[in-house]
Amino acid sequence: MFRGLILAILVISLCACERIAVLATPKKEPIPSCTALAATAENQFWSTLHSGNYQTISEADRLLTAAYLENPNDPKIAAHLGFLHIWKITERAREKPIPPTIVNEIILSKKYFKDAVLLDPSDPRFLGFLGDSQLAEGKIFHDERQEVHGYFTVKRAIRSWPQFNYFTGGYAMSVLPANSKHFQEGLKWQWKTMDLCAHDEVDRAHPSFKPYMKLETRQGWDRACWNSWIAPYNFEGFFLNMGDMLVKNGDWKTGIKIYRNAKLAKNYSAWPYRELLEKRIQDARQNVSEFRKETISTPEHTILFNSGYGCVACHQAG
Ligand code: HEC
Repeated sequence: MFRGLILAILVISLCACERIAVLATPKKEPIPSCTALAATAENQFWSTLHSGNYQTISEADRLLTAAYLENPNDPKIAAHLGFLHIWKITERAREKPIPPTIVNEIILSKKYFKDAVLLDPSDPRFLGFLGDSQLAEGKIFHDERQEVHGYFTVKRAIRSWPQFNYFTGGYAMSVLPANSKHFQEGLKWQWKTMDLCAHDEVDRAHPSFKPYMKLETRQGWDRACWNSWIAPYNFEGFFLNMGDMLVKNGDWKTGIKIYRNAKLAKNYSAWPYRELLEKRIQDARQNVSEFRKETISTPEHTILFNSGYGCVACHQAG
């Protein structure tokens, strides 16, 4: 009894001791990079993403990792390493065959997004992607607590930048079974994104985005609704995914109306994934069962997230 008490006091004081020691230690502070290596790595990162060049991710990874080792306090480099690794696993359908070691990409992306959030807590895009990587890691390794953790990280990110993170959070949930609670919530979040971007409640039966095209902007939080240098076909990609989620939900008729919104973008005719969207308009009805399959098939018959083009559909410039 007495020995138990001493042990308990010892354990409590050790825990408190660790917490105090951690709090007394300065946290990692942000320092921007200004070397030639960092500039080369950043250029390589953007040109790889904008050319949709999945095959050369490892070269961009090598340069960015070297730049991060040179200055492990740069939030942008940390975030871009996170994006690179999550790109690699998201578009894994391009690997033939997909190696089991692909799961290591999610571990790495979570590590780098965590660093990025620590170094720059003011960028809600990093927090949203940290949440997505926690969700994915929890799902892959059957750690439900980690999934719950990821869900609440996503919710926090949504509060900070809803136009961006309702999409980002809900997109990751598009892979879940159509009848699951979180798939349904992810679909609701796409409607929320649309409402926020329209500054209106979009008519659910006739969801044309045409009346709202005049709101296009490159400034402020609403810029996440439109195309930009960062995401040249964001508008098209958003409606491609939302149409896919509606089709997977069995509502293929509304799915077609949503797909058609992509055509309202000024640069639609130059979009590299235009044909993927047009095929989906034709095959919407048959795709209900195709999109519900857990396995990855051809890009035409797999939801955008798992199609092999889940990042570049919005980010590839041409
Ligand atoms: C529906 C379109 C869409 C999809 C799909 C998408 N993104 Fe984005 N992405 C965006 C938008 C919009 C932004 C915000 C642009 C801004 O900040 O102005 C963004 C921001 C980014 C940034 C910019 C970070 C920075 O430092 O400025 C990177 C990198 C990125 N996304 C990578 C990815 C990766 C990797 C994937 C796949 C896992 C992905 N995106 C999927 C639309 C998309």
